[in-house]
Amino acid sequence: MKSVIDNATILSDRESDRNAFRKAVEETAEAILESFDDESAFSGRSPHEVRERIGSLPFLSETGDGWDRMMESVRNIILPDMLRTWSPSYMPHLHSPALIESIASELIITAFNSSMDSWDQGPAATEIEVRTIKELCRLFGYPEEADGVFTSGGSQSNISACIVLRDRFLSKCHGWDAKKNGLPPDFRKLRLYVSELSHFSFEKAAHLMGLGYESVIRLPVDTKCRIDIAEAERIISKDKADGYEPFMIAATIGTTDFGSIDDISRLRDIADSNGMYLHADAAYGSGAILSSYSGRLGNLSLADTITIDFHKMFLLPISCSVLLVKDATLLDSFMLHADYLNREEDEEEGYINLVGKSMQTTRRFDALKVYMSFRMRGRDGFRSIMDTSIGNAEYFYHRIQNDSAFYAPIEPELSSVVFALEGGDERNRHIRKALLKDGIVIGQTVFQGRVMLKFTLLNPHLTHEHIDELIRRMKTI
Ligand SMILES: Cc1ncc(COP(=O)(O)O)c(C=O)c1O
Repeated sequence: MKSVIDNATILSDRESDRNAFRKAVEETAEAILESFDDESAFSGRSPHEVRERIGSLPFLSETGDGWDRMMESVRNIILPDMLRTWSPSYMPHLHSPALIESIASELIITAFNSSMDSWDQGPAATEIEVRTIKELCRLFGYPEEADGVFTSGGSQSNISACIVLRDRFLSKCHGWDAKKNGLPPDFRKLRLYVSELSHFSFEKAAHLMGLGYESVIRLPVDTKCRIDIAEAERIISKDKADGYEPFMIAATIGTTDFGSIDDISRLRDIADSNGMYLHADAAYGSGAILSSYSGRLGNLSLADTITIDFHKMFLLPISCSVLLVKDATLLDSFMLHADYLNREEDEEEGYINLVGKSMQTTRRFDALKVYMSFRMRGRDGFRSIMDTSIGNAEYFYHRIQNDSAFYAPIEPELSSVVFALEGGDERNRHIRKALLKDGIVIGQTVFQGRVMLKFTLLNPHLTHEHIDELIRRMKTI
């Protein structure tokens, strides 16, 4: 028998479409809930087994298999091997479970399918994004003339920051219009400085900007994994003396592995004394602004631009990120007018077309997730989530500090702990794989040439008992 969903195409005001929508949502929610009955993160199937099961699925048939048969495959083959981000046994990456209300936000976002390029494609959506950006500027201490834009993630926020700061540097210091003329003849002199532990999106940015990886100078870090300020000063001075043009420095506010936090005020001083711009990559650490530990971040408003990821510590679904700029005109780098989309005459009448602030054209209404979750939980709700996460990292670190079976080189400032068990690289690799087969997913990285394991503790359900049990299991493998 056919489902009512088979007779529908799109959501509309017709009674039959409303019923189909309701049924599709209800049955999907039920299928998700039925796909797990314990707190494990993963089925434990090998890549080969998962590939074989997925390979067995029909794809595009001539007549279509219909909702029920399609959902049978989703229920039986796809959902059981999905990674369950909400599991307390999932802790390898900066990849979080989603807050319940934000799953509802996603439903609204998709049902209306607003696009953020022009006001007529998302009237309420545009106004919510504008309002949310304004509130975020306040939260991070930016002045009234600041602005920002939602992006697809920390990478796009960082890349956008590099572009706008490069453009501003060239225009201010050389009267060069990079939008119109591209790179100046002596572009090989331009350099951007980041921590040796910064995210690789800065290399991507350098490539995309036509500067190449060699324009990215990775600065050494101190014993707490923060940019070594004296070394940064020395390297930048030497580069200037050698004729290079340092145009920006990026502080990492929460490095990907250790969560270490660069000293933003010392980096501001370096930027000022060398005529450079300062970016804060707070993709990871930005969530701590709502925690009891916000003082650890330093004064982020000292940066000219800030990357904030909501799909990390804030527990909002992928994708959800923002680039804030202290001076709204920085975003002019992305301004172009098209007759079909964002006519200047409409903008004069008060229609806001956000396309001019972004490297994207069609863009998701991700701001709704921030609005709905902030509104519902308030500062207290988020403080409790962030404090649990950072508190769990502290608990785990102190437990293993006092255990001779473990080695943990850096005390955590956010929610990640990098550690190893004594016994060498092979033992640590083996422990991670053995846990994966049991549905427990932890991270692995390299520090000072040594294979290390990593816990990224973003899950608010994670308890000290879970952590104790994990310590016990790792030791018995
Ligand atoms: C410090 C930092 N910056 C930027 C990024 C990139 O963010 P996204 O994965 O959202 O592009 C990450 C990702 O983990 C990160 O840890």
